[in-house]
Amino acid sequence: MKRVIVTGGAGFIGAHACKALRAAGFEPVVYDNLVYGHRSAVQWGPFEQGDILDEARLAAVFAQYQPVAVMHFAAFAYVGESVTDPEKYYRNNVEGTASLLRAMRQADVRQLIFSSSCATYGMAETIPILETQRQTPINPYGRTKLIGEQIARDYAQAYGFDCIALRYFNAAGSDAAGEIGEDHDPETHLIPLVLQAAAGMRPNITVFGDDYDTPDGTCIRDYLHVTDLADAHVAALQKLGLPGRFLALNLGTGAGTSVREIIDAAKRVTGCDIPVTMAARREGDPAALVADPSAAHAALGWAARYSDLDTILGTAWDWLQFKRQGTLKQDARLRA
Ligand code: UFG
Repeated sequence: MKRVIVTGGAGFIGAHACKALRAAGFEPVVYDNLVYGHRSAVQWGPFEQGDILDEARLAAVFAQYQPVAVMHFAAFAYVGESVTDPEKYYRNNVEGTASLLRAMRQADVRQLIFSSSCATYGMAETIPILETQRQTPINPYGRTKLIGEQIARDYAQAYGFDCIALRYFNAAGSDAAGEIGEDHDPETHLIPLVLQAAAGMRPNITVFGDDYDTPDGTCIRDYLHVTDLADAHVAALQKLGLPGRFLALNLGTGAGTSVREIIDAAKRVTGCDIPVTMAARREGDPAALVADPSAAHAALGWAARYSDLDTILGTAWDWLQFKRQGTLKQDARLRA
């Protein structure tokens, strides 16, 4: 079985990619330091605990498993924190990526799928966003992802790497079988917070700004089901094999949804009331980010299949119930 090293494979998107890899006949070897990842999310192959900054550990793992490729998810991804503590982001996301690529070159593993972000575009000039649009990130997180792309591009040109960088729009939803799901601590993303409000786990959802230049005044995003995202990674992996290539592709649906539309859909899907509090704009939020995903369609033969709002919200809601039942059982055990 062909092995793939998956850095950050214990995280939300990485774990879903591991499940998709296994279903496609690959063995995912998760390499994760468990700072934000969950050991319980590693279910489809071996687990190696390690940091991407630890080149000796990476070398040992490459020697042991002889992978055909690397999927590099491991990164810090809190935009707000990247503004207050950029050093943490440059160290992990930039130095960590450089360390990983050195270890790959040393081990002669030259095929890479790199997790990039729509945050590399900054304030979009036109919607929908094409890959050729200028990349001018507006926060350190976005800059670290752009630098990661640039390092990978240079490695492709100079050392014959083949890299496909996937620029994610808003990953959401959960595995339909309920085996894994979104589990951030702290949670900052709209959909899990809206569902927590629906479940009564928080008093309300705060909407950051309703004075944007959009039809209902709230921000518009392109929400993509994490299973669609995972499938795109496998499709990209299967296209690798062109030394010297660097290809960047948007992963989104091409359709935008406003914050208000998410809340209304969540009320419908959950059948629960969701109290809303209005607040000022969150710093650094672009009014609209919507992908033009046609390049990914053409290059990968891939298109989103599970990204309608009902499936995204329904699977995320089911996952929240599983997690709550698990916690309730644990609490009952502790009380007993
Ligand atoms: N929002 C609220 N209330 C909340 C949380 C979010 O109104 O409590 C709004 C935000 O202002 C934004 C939208 O909901 O308009 C989506 O916010 P998220 O935090 O869920 O997602 P972002 O679009 O900010 O972030 C995503 C990824 C980042 C990536 C970024 C690029 O999670 O990793 O897109 O802009 F960097």
